Amino acid sequence: MLTKVSSVANYGLKAVEIEVEVNVAEKGFPSFGIVGIASKSGEELKERVKTAIINTDIDFRPMKVTVNLAPADLPKDGSGYDLPIAVGILSSMGELDMTREKAYFYGELSLDGTLRHTRGVFLLAVLAKEQGIKNIFVPRLCANEASVVEGVSVYPVDSLKSLILHLRGAKKIVPLETVIVEEVLSDIRPEFDFGEILGQETAKRALEIAASGGHNIFMMGPPGSGKTMLSRATAGILPDLSERESLEVTKIFSITGNIPAGGSLIRLRPFRCPHHTTSLVGLIGGGSIPHPGEVSMAHRGVLFLDEFPEFGRNSLEALRQPLEDGSVNISRSAGSISFPAQFMLVAAANPCPCGFLGDIKKECHCSVHQIMNYQKKLSGPIMDRIDLHLNVPAVDINKLMLDSTDGIMSEKSKNIKLRVIQAREVQRKRFDKVIDIHCNADMKNVHLKEFAKLTTDANLLLKQAVNKFNLSARTYFRLIKVSRTIADLAGSLNIGDSHVAEALQYRVRNE
Ligand SMILES: Nc1ncnc2c1ncn2[C@@H]1O[C@H](COP(=O)(O)OP(=O)(O)O)[C@@H](O)[C@H]1O
Ligand SMILES: [Mg+2]
Ligand SMILES: [Zn+2]
Repeated sequence: MLTKVSSVANYGLKAVEIEVEVNVAEKGFPSFGIVGIASKSGEELKERVKTAIINTDIDFRPMKVTVNLAPADLPKDGSGYDLPIAVGILSSMGELDMTREKAYFYGELSLDGTLRHTRGVFLLAVLAKEQGIKNIFVPRLCANEASVVEGVSVYPVDSLKSLILHLRGAKKIVPLETVIVEEVLSDIRPEFDFGEILGQETAKRALEIAASGGHNIFMMGPPGSGKTMLSRATAGILPDLSERESLEVTKIFSITGNIPAGGSLIRLRPFRCPHHTTSLVGLIGGGSIPHPGEVSMAHRGVLFLDEFPEFGRNSLEALRQPLEDGSVNISRSAGSISFPAQFMLVAAANPCPCGFLGDIKKECHCSVHQIMNYQKKLSGPIMDRIDLHLNVPAVDINKLMLDSTDGIMSEKSKNIKLRVIQAREVQRKRFDKVIDIHCNADMKNVHLKEFAKLTTDANLLLKQAVNKFNLSARTYFRLIKVSRTIADLAGSLNIGDSHVAEALQYRVRNE
């Protein structure tokens, strides 16, 4: 007997409806054939489905089972098709009656018949709403992801057995209540608070500016000067995501399986810190069926690249497109896929491989060749796309001890965050009507005339700096954007010369 069950495949950040056709014949050579999916995924899938059905106390007699996932030309991976296939087999065997309203079934089966966390459930729910599908059956562990989508009944399924009982009408599964958007994902505290970091006032101020305007920032200093600590503390001064941003981020987190069990919408701004050994695909995205990389996981948040020059040359080169366009394009025969990647880059580096170049106390042991190779990575196109450049010298140990014995604490992250939120609010209002621009760093040059007006004095100062330091046009525009953020933090409508002067401090080092 033939049964059709609806489910969903994910391609890029899009969910696509698929039809799972299952035919079970008592006659013929006992076999389990599956078409429409890559053979390796298919083999694993068959084992899971077969064993899960047997462990659910269903008499799985030797039969000829044929499964087709249509459309066949849509590349498919993942493990969400286990559930619709199992349901199709059971129905074809006469164990279930599937003549009912169309619904989506989705989820990976364990060998014991329980359902595992499966990626992409949020996108499935969004598609269900678009397609007018009323009911979806997904693993309980990720059902909360779906429950933020209004108008769709989400049935959280624990196991194949509980689904069978539900579909037979023996024991109903209660659909989840729609989760209100305000419901937050468990709060992940940043490791460091700015209050714990003594001194480093310039670096803290620069990070506050970067977080306020979404600017890329680069920090250079000897080992132990606190670069890693400062960067990680930045997670604690970022404002939460707006509702619109939250939906964008949740899609990416859902498709990469990064929403923890029970979690729903992502409200905290992402803070990603991939190690320098991360592969190019891991960083940028890709694969035969394209997956988002770290740059997309950092969308609307921070991408922190510690030990920046240690990243492979190819990886650094590949950062250019997302830094410029705010997205990553991946071409495949099935069509090109674009993943959003509008992140704020925080990069940190030692001045040379050993770290002590220019240090007064310790000697640098690197060869000229090593130093040149290292610094070559710190020049050119990537550095050109970084708004704030900063030297982070080590804080004097005596001052550290003095400060701590006096009990003088630096300003806490939560206070700094309040100013960042305020500055972002100014920007939200400013860019209310401009598509795809959320903060000052997102502005294109054409926006500057309207949104970043300089006073006469500010203009004069900027012109002098351009001539004196021989600044490039790109640097010039970036300076204006940073000045805009500094003015926003000061609550100033126009950009004055003091704002430009401060912006220049974070720039001229490398010119
Ligand atoms: N300004 C500071 N205030 C408090 N602790 C500091 C400071 N600078 C460095 N430290 C201490 O030194 C350690 C090393 O700092 P780290 O951020 O790893 O330096 P870097 O990344 O520049 O090599 C920190 O974990 C912290 O314990
Ligand atoms: Mg470090
Ligand atoms: Zn060195």
